[in-house]
Amino acid sequence: MEAVHIENLEFSYDGETPVLKGITLNIPRGSYTAVVGHNGSGKSTLAKLIIGLLEPAAGKIEVLGWPLTEATASEIRDHVGIVFQNPDNQFIGSTVADDIAFGLENHCVPTEEMQPLIEENAAKVGMLDYLNAEPTNLSGGQKQRVAIAGILAMSPDIIIFDESTSMLDPQGKASVNAQIRKLNKEKNITILSITHDMDEAAQAEHVVVLEKGKVVAEGKPEEVFENEKMMKDLKLDLPFALKASKAFEKAGMAVRPVLSLDELVEEVCRLK
Ligand SMILES: Nc1ncnc2c1ncn2[C@@H]1O[C@H](COP(=O)(O)OP(=O)(O)OP(=O)(O)O)[C@@H](O)[C@H]1O
Ligand SMILES: [Mg+2]
Repeated sequence: MEAVHIENLEFSYDGETPVLKGITLNIPRGSYTAVVGHNGSGKSTLAKLIIGLLEPAAGKIEVLGWPLTEATASEIRDHVGIVFQNPDNQFIGSTVADDIAFGLENHCVPTEEMQPLIEENAAKVGMLDYLNAEPTNLSGGQKQRVAIAGILAMSPDIIIFDESTSMLDPQGKASVNAQIRKLNKEKNITILSITHDMDEAAQAEHVVVLEKGKVVAEGKPEEVFENEKMMKDLKLDLPFALKASKAFEKAGMAVRPVLSLDELVEEVCRLK
């Protein structure tokens, strides 16, 4: 069964200008999918449609096998967590701990189970020392960390991250991304990550490229990123390791194109 199945999805905010045009997409259960594309290509709109915050003009969305309708949207939202692009729009609690607890309360987690879950997940994003802080007083990156902790604590079947680590410092980003990957592997949680970070997308199982409301490419990262001409035409960046391996190759070294730093090191060491 697919986590998300989308067929010929059309959407417009004003009823005139098309924003999503005939999107057809399958996101397998337990997969890690990255959605990339320019500003305004429709990524956040697609995320909002998947959780039923917006209504399609045409087409079909199924989540975990259920057709998404007005009647099923609330039940579906119990299984899908989203961390929105702007962390300011998602705080409800007066402290960080309350905020993480809010989602758990909604999921009817017994009170005695809450505290360990709050602490465990705040620790995962490096915010254990801030449990009593007011969310509004946090920095942008700290707000993003708390928003992520809240969703991780609920451990829904599907999590959509909409540029959710964009304000994190590099170390924080690497560590939170590692937590997310662990959750995906160990708990089989389906991850849909909207990102401008091509290095992160390179580590996904599946990459979807949106351009002006259309899916213009999708596949394994090596398939998508190998299409250098398309990436160039779309003015999209390539993952660092791929750019570096191609530069080595261009310089006459027998380095194969690779997608991660570890593989790049392996390739270069092989030459010795
Ligand atoms: N609430 C809204 N009302 C009207 N138009 C909107 C609204 N939100 C987004 N749009 C328009 O829809 C298009 C897609 O926007 P969307 O936010 O989905 O893009 P995105 O791919 O998430 O971009 P970014 O990388 O900047 O986050 C844009 O042209 C945008 O101007
Ligand atoms: Mg967006």
